[in-house]
Amino acid sequence: MTIRVLFVCLGNICRSPTAEGVFASLVNTNAVFSDSAGTGAWHVGEPPDKRSQAAAKRQGIDLSGQRARQVTKQDFHDFDHILAMDSSNLAALERMQPAGAKAKLGLLLDHHPDTELKDVPDPYYEDGFDTVFQLVKRACDGLAKDLKV
Ligand code: 4NP
Repeated sequence: MTIRVLFVCLGNICRSPTAEGVFASLVNTNAVFSDSAGTGAWHVGEPPDKRSQAAAKRQGIDLSGQRARQVTKQDFHDFDHILAMDSSNLAALERMQPAGAKAKLGLLLDHHPDTELKDVPDPYYEDGFDTVFQLVKRACDGLAKDLKV
């Protein structure tokens, strides 16, 4: 059975495309389907931010084929796990979740083995793209272990 995992941030151009690219590189893509989306719609249709693409490329991960989209209600039926990059996006997902939908909601960093942080910092206005990459990478390693994929 394919496990379906959706990574969610605000703009879907920095943190969640990074998580999706990293996670897809770690797992058997026959056993796992992953995607990413944003709670906001400002960047729909755009490729990931150049700075995220560069940070990922330095670690051998290509994000260039991804395009931003917004989370839909259907996602809560289609995905087994929806992992938010921070608490405010998790709260937005909890408000959107339709009754009876199967998706389990959570925070990506709850799968990180060794951080006190709950939220992946938003690098869009702040920079720190390599730090975000490393945080997301270790959390995705933990997620792959936790899901046994
Ligand atoms: P992301 O970063 O949520 O990691 O994709 C952001 C990208 C764009 C904006 C905010 C956060 N924005 O406000 O346009």
